Amino acid sequence: MSDAKRITTHTLQEMKAAGERISMLTAYDYSMATIIDDAGIDIILVGDSASNVIAGHETTLPITLDQMIYHAQSVIRAIHRCLVVVDLPFGSYQGNSKKALSAAIRIMKEAEAHAVKLEGGKEVRTSIKRILTAGIPVMGHLGLTPQSIYKFGTYTVRAKEEEEAKRLIDDAKLLEDLGCFALVLEKIPAALGKQVAEALSIPVIGIGAGMHVDGQVLVMHDLLGINKEFNPRFLRRYLDLYSDIKGAVEQYIADVKSRDFPNKKEQY
Ligand code: KIV
Repeated sequence: MSDAKRITTHTLQEMKAAGERISMLTAYDYSMATIIDDAGIDIILVGDSASNVIAGHETTLPITLDQMIYHAQSVIRAIHRCLVVVDLPFGSYQGNSKKALSAAIRIMKEAEAHAVKLEGGKEVRTSIKRILTAGIPVMGHLGLTPQSIYKFGTYTVRAKEEEEAKRLIDDAKLLEDLGCFALVLEKIPAALGKQVAEALSIPVIGIGAGMHVDGQVLVMHDLLGINKEFNPRFLRRYLDLYSDIKGAVEQYIADVKSRDFPNKKEQY
């Protein structure tokens, strides 16, 4: 596919201006990224949710920069069209903007990613500014920010109270002013999602932020129904792959035990 058809940060801006909704999904490996890109997704996020769905950690905190780069490299090898955004992992950008820039440069150079995403507002402004000076596009992330889970204590809906909602709006405007090209809003009231999307000129992509934002993102494993235990209200499952895969594996085991597999046609 030619470069002209590739999705860029500029394309996303045009989509917002035209009122066209932006689609975004996570991917962490070559095979899944191939399918998602081929299906026509606008953005693949190599999310630090890999820490949960790939590595089995309870939170996103343990995943390392090296591991994020490994996942990003696998995804980048697969794609022809979409924009690939990679999460800066916990500990790689908070409190030290030089470290943040060097982490972002490693992601861009070693994985050949197109942009990075990081969580937080004014507390990470220095890191955002420094990353942007290197010409690296930055996507913000506000609302429920899973890297701060031990500060929140729970994964419940954020910014329901006026004070927190006001802080979120201020942070969203700051991220736009700093030069972020887009913003993810996670698990906030739909009315607040609408207010932020209307107030900003950059695209606002929601996960549990209602129907009025400029685009939607889901974790691919959740969309496919691979995780049985994760059931937030915002999740729409398009498949029940847990049952399908389990059924296929059970059938395979039965076929091996009964000597049905392999048959005469399946051998040399
Ligand atoms: O890591 C991730 O998958 C994310 C999405 C939930 C937006 O940040």
